[in-house]
Amino acid sequence: MSDLTSKIIGVGGYLPDKIITNFDLEKIVDTTDEWIKTRTGITKRQIAENQTTSDLAIEAIKDAINNANIDKNDIDLIICATTTPDLTFPSTACIIQNKLGIEKNIIAFDIQAVCCGFVYALSVANDIIKSGKIKTAIVVGAEKMSSLIDWKDRTTCVLFGDGAGAIVLQSTNEENTGIIDTELYANGNYIDMLKTSGGTSTNQVAGNILMDGKAVFKHAVEKMSSSIQNIVKNNNLTLEDIDFIIPHQANYRILSMVAEKLNIQNEKFIITIDKHANTSSASIPLALNEAIKQNKIKKGDLLIFEALGAGFTWGSVLVRW
Ligand code: ACO
Repeated sequence: MSDLTSKIIGVGGYLPDKIITNFDLEKIVDTTDEWIKTRTGITKRQIAENQTTSDLAIEAIKDAINNANIDKNDIDLIICATTTPDLTFPSTACIIQNKLGIEKNIIAFDIQAVCCGFVYALSVANDIIKSGKIKTAIVVGAEKMSSLIDWKDRTTCVLFGDGAGAIVLQSTNEENTGIIDTELYANGNYIDMLKTSGGTSTNQVAGNILMDGKAVFKHAVEKMSSSIQNIVKNNNLTLEDIDFIIPHQANYRILSMVAEKLNIQNEKFIITIDKHANTSSASIPLALNEAIKQNKIKKGDLLIFEALGAGFTWGSVLVRW
């Protein structure tokens, strides 16, 4: 058996320039800064205007490549987690390869697991690296959620933002470092709780977000908590051993209820929902990027990335930094 595993050697993030505060939204829909802040924790979001998802991804990837100190031609694999692709086809990952100017043949594809996309993509990239077939991968979560928003629907338009976060994942033989374990789940019985009103083969439009907010909230707390517990138990660890949890940022109240349910100090959760809002598959790598820039994460720390998205899809990744 091979001891090959993968580790994150660089992280990058990008948020588009245009800032929309809760006060700006007060002028568009019947809402208040107070309602949005107390119900979600969000104070602002950043929105892409004349940029596509791949444009956001490219900026985050360049940052990650720079931080990893690799050459773009070292990249063997690009996985883009997105629910807002540039085009129905080709994949956003192929568009990213083209824009990065990587001439050689690589592996490139998109993963669609909505808000759990980064966790799914990281797990798949780790498995491909562990197979020994490739050495260096880009995993990017990139979203233009604003393109799915009905700006007249106050129940959804206040929740989302645009952005991209990327990591460089590389094979390693070093012991006790990198991706230790991943757990993925899906249950399509919940498709109607969170979905879009359109799709290519249904009505040829992307559609808007339709959501049963209370039901999603309940499942997010329950499934994110159980996924954390499972990955900790399956690796003979306790929650005390975990230094930081880097969760998908959907709602501050969801995260504090997970913390309360599992009896974990709030300080162990990296929180960016206040500034970024819900950037779907970009939220975990963007939060990781912030935590690194703030020097919160030290070599040897044990981290859990965890998320729930539409489907439902959910899961966790256990990482030794
Ligand atoms: N401003 C003011 N009032 C609002 C707004 C708004 N933006 N949105 C809804 N309301 C009103 C409702 O109409 C309702 O009014 P009513 O009592 O007169 O009917 C009242 O506020 C309460 O609405 P609820 O839906 O009960 O509010 P709740 O406390 O459940 O919060 C929220 C809603 C924030 C959407 C919450 O349910 C939630 O965060 N759910 C999770 C959904 C989510 O995060 N989805 C993202 C994708 S999935 C993921 O990333 C995990």
